[in-house]
Amino acid sequence: MTNTFAVDHPAEVIDIYLNVCADENRFVAQSIAAFDTIGLNGSVLDCAVGTGFGTIRLLELGYSLVCSDGSAEMLDRFRHNCIEAGLSNDAICARWEDLGRMFPEVFDMVMCRGNSLAYADTWDSDTALEFDPGRVITHVAGMAGALRPGGALLVDLPSARPDTSPSILEHQGFCPAGRPVTVIEEISTDHETRIRHWDVAMTVGHRNYRFARSSYLLDLNTLRDALDACGFTSVRSLPGSSVRDHYQTVVAIKQRSQPTRRIAAGR
Ligand SMILES: C[S@@+](CC[C@H](N)C(=O)[O-])C[C@H]1O[C@@H](n2cnc3c(N)ncnc32)[C@H](O)[C@@H]1O
Repeated sequence: MTNTFAVDHPAEVIDIYLNVCADENRFVAQSIAAFDTIGLNGSVLDCAVGTGFGTIRLLELGYSLVCSDGSAEMLDRFRHNCIEAGLSNDAICARWEDLGRMFPEVFDMVMCRGNSLAYADTWDSDTALEFDPGRVITHVAGMAGALRPGGALLVDLPSARPDTSPSILEHQGFCPAGRPVTVIEEISTDHETRIRHWDVAMTVGHRNYRFARSSYLLDLNTLRDALDACGFTSVRSLPGSSVRDHYQTVVAIKQRSQPTRRIAAGR
């Protein structure tokens, strides 16, 4: 008999999910291509490091990365994964809106990958707030504040407008310990409220797990408006495949001359 475990927080099983559903080689290749595009000189901040998917590989390759995330649960897992990889990286628990105050104009690049911006403030509690483009601006403004003028933001988001009907994806693979894994994920989108719902059922060996998270229907136009409001120029999509087939990856450069507009902290 198999039991189903409702997972309290995705951090408990997200590494197994990512191992089967996302492409770490693409994450690494695209990140390095973005570093090369801007001629990286200084440090990079990964402000949505999660459990370290892809980023731990970049650390192993010797890139200088400061890692942060707003979720203590994800960072616990990140620290564990760093130890397993023989690395010591002291990640910081930080929310995006605070980054400019914590690291004023420090970094050459800020990365916000893994479709994280769409999960703004919903990841720990699965409570989606009303979709608000103003809140996207607040988050992007925090990231912009941590970038030196001329620095770049690297961010990915869904590439296509999803159907109203739920889309169901099935994946098969293995977990790092070698047990067979099946993942069935269902994504449904309410275009009126702009809330997406993601339901994941995963079988690892003989165990079944379920978790769900809500996110926002973030599109390129909304992101472009936020980047524009925060003083970014030359927003462009990176060529090549992103971490998931249905993601696109964007690089935006922070203007040299004009300081980031101060955005009211109201959320
Ligand atoms: C979809 S997960 C992606 C994590 C990781 N980049 C990956 O690819 O697995 C989104 C991440 O964004 C973080 N996050 C969401 N809202 C945040 C906020 N306001 N400030 C900082 N981190 C936030 C979550 O804690 C979570 O780790």
